[in-house]
Amino acid sequence: MIAIESARPSDLPAVRDLIESVGLPLDGFGEVPTEVFVAREGESVVGTASLETHGGDGLLRSVAVDELWRGDGIGDALVRAAEVQAHRIGLAAVYLLTDTAGEFFAGRGYLVIDRDAGPVPIMASIEWSVACGETAIPMMLPAAAIANS
Ligand SMILES: CC(C)(COP(=O)(O)OP(=O)(O)OC[C@H]1O[C@@H](n2cnc3c(N)ncnc32)[C@H](O)[C@@H]1OP(=O)(O)O)[C@@H](O)C(=O)NCCC(=O)NCCS
Repeated sequence: MIAIESARPSDLPAVRDLIESVGLPLDGFGEVPTEVFVAREGESVVGTASLETHGGDGLLRSVAVDELWRGDGIGDALVRAAEVQAHRIGLAAVYLLTDTAGEFFAGRGYLVIDRDAGPVPIMASIEWSVACGETAIPMMLPAAAIANS
């Protein structure tokens, strides 16, 4: 039975290990206000997603599911948890950069935007300005879609 919930401080080493194991950057992770979600199976963390707050917008990053657990809706549930949180705390939109999962996010309503078209605080984030290379696709989920999630 998988539980999707906010990470406990004791989860953070496993969360970092999982993010690293799927090849996503850890630069700046946890250095700004961040809500970290985990998918827990027993005592094991099998998935994670993080929502950073930058100004009035959210930055979704570090969405990762253990290879053995993929294809069962865990990634979808983690992203949804982050979106619900974004709506709950009144963020205007959720932004992300991805090299590997553009179709996954497009299927959830995210729109491709120009890299220099994000809000200034989002573009100043470590993820946007340093961690993700030029090939990463910038995407945004509009506020209306968050409200409906
Ligand atoms: C992307 C990822 C989080 C998806 O996790 P998951 O638990 O397998 O996702 P789900 O089971 O919720 O999949 C939902 C749908 O997205 C599809 N999908 C999953 N990963 C995908 C990807 N990388 N590209 C395109 N589609 C993808 C699934 O086939 C599924 O489609 P369906 O509903 O039509 O069957 C997982 O593949 C992963 O950890 N990848 C490595 C890290 C990564 O790329 N993270 C995203 C960058 S922030």
